[in-house]
Amino acid sequence: MVHTAKDLAVFLKKKGFIYPSCEIYGGVAGLYDYGHLGTLLKKNWENVWREYFLGLNDNFFEIETANIAHENVFRASGHLENFSDPIVKCSKVGCDFSERADHFVTKATGKRTEGWSPEDLNLAIKADGLICPTCKSVLAPCEAMNMMFPLNMGVGGRNRAYLRPETAQSPYVNFKIQHEILRKKMPMGLALIGRAYRNEISPKSSPPRYREFTQAELQIFFNPSTVNVHPDFALVADYQLNVLLEADRAGETVVVRTAAALVALGLPQFYVYHLCKIQQFYFDVLRINPIKFRLYQLDDSEKAFYNKYHFDLEIEMEEHGWVEVGGLHYRTDHDLGGHERVSKVSMDVFDEVSQEKYIPHILECSFGVDRNVYALLDSGYVDDTTRGNVVLGLRPLIAPFVCAVLPLVKNKEEITTLARSVLGAVKSVGKVYYDETGTVGKRYARADEQGVPYCVTVDFESLVDGCVTVRNRDTTVQDRVKIAELGSYLNAKKN
Ligand code: GAP
Repeated sequence: MVHTAKDLAVFLKKKGFIYPSCEIYGGVAGLYDYGHLGTLLKKNWENVWREYFLGLNDNFFEIETANIAHENVFRASGHLENFSDPIVKCSKVGCDFSERADHFVTKATGKRTEGWSPEDLNLAIKADGLICPTCKSVLAPCEAMNMMFPLNMGVGGRNRAYLRPETAQSPYVNFKIQHEILRKKMPMGLALIGRAYRNEISPKSSPPRYREFTQAELQIFFNPSTVNVHPDFALVADYQLNVLLEADRAGETVVVRTAAALVALGLPQFYVYHLCKIQQFYFDVLRINPIKFRLYQLDDSEKAFYNKYHFDLEIEMEEHGWVEVGGLHYRTDHDLGGHERVSKVSMDVFDEVSQEKYIPHILECSFGVDRNVYALLDSGYVDDTTRGNVVLGLRPLIAPFVCAVLPLVKNKEEITTLARSVLGAVKSVGKVYYDETGTVGKRYARADEQGVPYCVTVDFESLVDGCVTVRNRDTTVQDRVKIAELGSYLNAKKN
């Protein structure tokens, strides 16, 4: 059954996955909290991301850094000057209408406005005769609003700093020290999973547009003279990618092209290799339905200010259509060059093998964790009218709990004792829980809604035959499994 974003939001709050922050004080726009189920799910997503992306190369490592950075970091990166969104306000004194101007124009006209300047948007507002939706007055000219949160640090607030708007800059300012410590080997990868902060003009819960959110980003530093080769490219040359190229935009339809075909069209091998690895992450690890995933190429007007090549990673959602959940960004030497200029610290490296001196280029694999988690919840949510409850189809690797252990009855000590020992026996498989409250049917429904892939029921027969019933969440098929083999049974299902 088709669901709305509201159905999902109500469900996520009711079950304690995700809900507005500080609700007892009326909430704060753009801030959301994860309850225990949401936290388990999000951590699982982060763990599979970490394992997969750090596994791409022996020289990729994770770091953890401060969330606050010196103003000069953002002077060097260009965020002080360029990191803004267009805002439109009502011209009438007393009317407090304001909205992100590109979204406002898209909503009113259906035009795709990503990357439009305030001037472009003013022209569209004029041409389409758009007025204030609240009081019908004339709109004030659109302006650019910087989205960073400034902080005045220290006594007297004299030190100008910002909450970071992307995790990326932290690995860049760590580049020199890490390059030295990691024995100057290239390519070098620094991954960071952490919080980012943006003063979004129109925050919303679905798909997440938060003011504080989590990013998982891998920064790959490499020799720019090697961008047209990747040592493992032959392994992916025939791999088929779901792409919507700039040239194919008119149809808005995904065209499946091989990695080799994209290189023939002029994209560097190093870049295309990582496009393949990203799609494989979505298909093979997260098991996203392939028809709901595409790599969307941004044109010059849409690309982020620091990118030479830029594809968004998009997932098609139930009500929202295609939603950006990440991106592959070829940032060239934009960032390290900027840090060299502002800090006066050389970012050059010397390659002993090729005897070349260069400022490394950066390829960034960037993911919004909250958007990705939301996408999994959106695609997994099924309101099953036959069962009379929601079934959350999360794969075992990601689900908050791998299984629930249920004693058939709670007032028979032999059964509850055996059930508790079964719980102990399966703990090594992953997160598991014990539930003896309510009828078995109610407990199955509760587990379905938490996305628990397997329910293990200990019944009277278990006392005799040493077996338990394992119910599959998606099919409701029940297997009888020996307790001694339960761990390996669940482990085999998990991956
Ligand atoms: N370091 C590159 C960078 O930050 P971005 O496209 O601005 O690129 C990367 O952000 C990802 O972060 C996006 O694809 C999206 O998934 C997520 N993201 C960006 N803004 C967000 C917001 N306000 N709320 C939730 N997620 C956001």
